[in-house]
Amino acid sequence: MNIEIHQKDDRTSWEELTKLFHEAFQERLDQGLHFTCSYFTPEDLERRSANNVVLVATDQDTGALAGTAFVEIVNDEKGTWGYLSNMAISPKIKRCGIGSKLEQRRIEIAKANGCKYVISDTAKGADSSVAWHKKNGFKLYALDSFSSTNYYSYVFRKLLVPHSSLWDSLYCRVHYLLSALRCRMRFRADGKTTKLMNCYLKIRGVK
Ligand SMILES: CC(C)(COP(=O)(O)OP(=O)(O)OC[C@H]1O[C@@H](n2cnc3c(N)ncnc32)[C@H](O)[C@@H]1OP(=O)(O)O)[C@@H](O)C(=O)NCCC(=O)NCCS
Repeated sequence: MNIEIHQKDDRTSWEELTKLFHEAFQERLDQGLHFTCSYFTPEDLERRSANNVVLVATDQDTGALAGTAFVEIVNDEKGTWGYLSNMAISPKIKRCGIGSKLEQRRIEIAKANGCKYVISDTAKGADSSVAWHKKNGFKLYALDSFSSTNYYSYVFRKLLVPHSSLWDSLYCRVHYLLSALRCRMRFRADGKTTKLMNCYLKIRGVK
């Protein structure tokens, strides 16, 4: 395989990318994990690509679409950081290093734009994706829950500035534990509020 990674252009249509997402995320649907990627339409995808760099991996030998990944440079009160999302690899060529190649390119883009760290999330039960994040140097950072999905999300962070690996590991561990406690007390896996949270909101007169 001769993989080339480039920014999406007219050679790849939104329809082709949508098909790739549906094929790549079929394994997640089979696991009962409803990623939003499984339900993308070409219009959704084009809308979601706003403010993102959309990378595409193609096999130069066959011309086939091999994978895709998005990166967004965010400037907010936390500074400049990168949000990595929407990685999908064609099912027949998973675990061949294409995801990691796309990742290297996303990190180059994030660094070139002055990002101090990158954030990425995935489903708690998506074992291959969790393993992939760990292999690619991400640390488990937080737990979250969204109403658009039916699972708890693991949030991963990778620092791009010089740092002590030991301190980073310790910091992420403590951050994750506090975040997981807070998230589970407030939200169910499907993003709805827990009974505990509902009681709290009632007492506060919010609900
Ligand atoms: C998860 C995904 C993006 C990984 O991309 P990839 O190109 O297949 O992975 P790479 O070849 O770059 O990396 C391989 C590493 O990822 C992990 N991994 C990938 N597939 C795995 C599997 N089926 N089981 C266990 N670990 C797996 C391992 O750490 C593996 O390293 P190893 O082979 O030395 O054990 C890809 O499999 C995919 O598209 N999955 C479905 C959609 C998805 O989950 N997207 C990510 C959502 S955030």
